[in-house]
Amino acid sequence: MVVNDISPRAPLDLDRLQEAAGPLWKVQLHAAAESTNALATASLERGLVVVADHQTAGRGRLGREWVTPPGAALTFSAVVDPVVDDEWWPLVPLVAGYAVARIVGGSVKWPNDVLLHDRKVCGILVERVHVRARGGDKPLAVVGIGINVDQTADELPVPWASSLGLLGFPWDRTELFARVLHGLRVWLGVMTSGPTTFVANYRGRFDTLGRDVRVDLPDGSTLSGRADGVDDHGRLEVETSGGTVAVAAGDVVHVRRAE
Ligand code: BTN
Repeated sequence: MVVNDISPRAPLDLDRLQEAAGPLWKVQLHAAAESTNALATASLERGLVVVADHQTAGRGRLGREWVTPPGAALTFSAVVDPVVDDEWWPLVPLVAGYAVARIVGGSVKWPNDVLLHDRKVCGILVERVHVRARGGDKPLAVVGIGINVDQTADELPVPWASSLGLLGFPWDRTELFARVLHGLRVWLGVMTSGPTTFVANYRGRFDTLGRDVRVDLPDGSTLSGRADGVDDHGRLEVETSGGTVAVAAGDVVHVRRAE
């Protein structure tokens, strides 16, 4: 399952990455880049995957930064066409988190942080962009994925993060890249043909269920309650003192697991 005969810190190689990705993707490799999401958003070629051995200004969700040391993480952005109506677009970030969680044997903190042994090992930033098409503007998704592969404890930016290697699951970054790209394509396909089928699968790895949570909402307010589930459109359902609220965007803090 895990190919680990190559040190994760060995520089990535474009030929190996392209071979691992297969003919459906066109891989671009940068030894160093500010942000693969920024580069992918600038090119906007469907099927393009921008990989960086080192990101110097990685973008996180909700305007945060994403910091990884050179050669220790897998950081890339894929330009995909989810082929779904607007109402299902909020599922795209969930698909990416779910695909990674399956591969590393982890779970998902809503909407798409991948957890392993309760530590965050992967963050995902999906940006919706538009290209000109014959019938008007067409939306594409830039799916940015950052996986902590080989960081040591003192290289982690926050105490609740970890790396696959630290948790006892060493990966070769190119092998992991191949598996994640494949999983992303498969699960985007499931979501396109049956969004609710995808959500049913997502619920199976949904770590937030039953937890007491605090949700920091984009307007600056917060919501507290118990995570009750995820609805068919991927919204987090929070049971509050005032009733159940469906949250479409926000940052979830797991306060403690409910008994
Ligand atoms: C988060 O958890 O806040 C999301 C982090 C997303 C990081 C990835 S790394 C590859 C891609 N390029 C970026 O600039 N960000 C994403």
